Amino acid sequence: MDRHLFPTRSLRGSLRVPGDKSVTHRGLMLGALAQGESWLYHPLKAGDTLSTAGVMRALGAEIHEEGAHFRIRGVGLALKEPGDILDCGNAGTLIRLVSGLLAGQEMFTVLTGDASLRRRPMGRVTAPLRQMGARIDGRDGGRLAPLAIRGGGLKGIRYELPVASAQVKSAVLLAGLFAEGETEVTEPAPTRDHTERIFRHYGLPIEVQGNRIRTHRAQPFAARDLTVPGDFSSAAFFLVAALITPDSEVTLEGVGLNPTRTGLLTVLKEMGADLSWEVTEGQDGEPVGWIRARSSQLKGVAVDPSLIPLMVDEIPILSAAAAWAEGETFIPGLEELRVKESDRLEAIAKNLNNLGVKTEVGPDWIRIFGGSVQQGRVEPFHDHRIAMAFAVCGLQTGVTVHDAEWASISFPSFWEDLDRLRGKD
Ligand code: S3P
Repeated sequence: MDRHLFPTRSLRGSLRVPGDKSVTHRGLMLGALAQGESWLYHPLKAGDTLSTAGVMRALGAEIHEEGAHFRIRGVGLALKEPGDILDCGNAGTLIRLVSGLLAGQEMFTVLTGDASLRRRPMGRVTAPLRQMGARIDGRDGGRLAPLAIRGGGLKGIRYELPVASAQVKSAVLLAGLFAEGETEVTEPAPTRDHTERIFRHYGLPIEVQGNRIRTHRAQPFAARDLTVPGDFSSAAFFLVAALITPDSEVTLEGVGLNPTRTGLLTVLKEMGADLSWEVTEGQDGEPVGWIRARSSQLKGVAVDPSLIPLMVDEIPILSAAAAWAEGETFIPGLEELRVKESDRLEAIAKNLNNLGVKTEVGPDWIRIFGGSVQQGRVEPFHDHRIAMAFAVCGLQTGVTVHDAEWASISFPSFWEDLDRLRGKD
């Protein structure tokens, strides 16, 4: 479905963004593994996390939608062998994390997903899980889904992550809950630490020492309610929208402000953004607060590559901000963008080009020459974040977004929320 956005003069108001996608995936998985009943409050109910609910149900958990929440009855560590293959849809976090869980279970499962997911690299999880003792097969020697897993009999390993990936870290830690002895993961750079925090919330074994994270075999653990913070990655679209639109002020409330997620705030500040935020509470182990953005004249910067893992999902929207900034923005360290829901480096460059913005692209970097956005057409390449980021980029000039429904993978109310801020209720 095409969505036409007429030029926007101003964005005003306050908003609560939907629940965090990463925390919802983990909340559903751990609630499903726990013993007894718990509530997952304010989860994200969107394409990706509904895939997780479906998979955890097929593995024996009861998951009921109750208004805005989920009520979960967990299986007490022993998942049930499903009668059919498990469809992970578009969700990379689901297929990778659940591979870790299934590696620990004495049963046979097959995981698959949509065309995008079946193109994404799985060797990064199948390699350490095989080292732990799981038998895993798949296309291209286990590097691509569908993956067939026969789990059980795991031994703990010490594993140095070859890429900075929270999904791989989490898959190994989840498998570690079922493994004999200790499992240790070393990260090359800090990545989002929601798994470590949720383990603590449930009283599961977890020890963090610098870049080393350890766990060991878990005993059945009691169900516990969990409240999901608003998703910083969803908030990011409206923050940047307010910064680049004249006469704008937008406040986002109840947003997760976990420092392993907020690298974008550092970069936008450096670009001259009028941004303020405050952590107002700690909610089940995650810092939560508000963020306010006002119209700003941004300037181009060279982004510090060590910040990329702390903003890996925000590169598309940062590129939109760079398109409106004065001068050049250089973003290095982007090799992982090639293997997201789309080849995001390519998708960013093509959409900027459609909107009249000049770029140069290397294997793992992009240079964006700001200041010349024109009216145009956005092509999401089946990628939710590309659809939303470049809709924002074209807000002032007017833009047509092709296949706009892709936003619902992580943010089903995106278009309505945007209309509210534009005063088009
Ligand atoms: C996620 C980790 C990141 C991120 C994804 C969610 C997670 O992926 O891009 O949207 O919840 O662990 P990588 O681990 O592949 O960087």
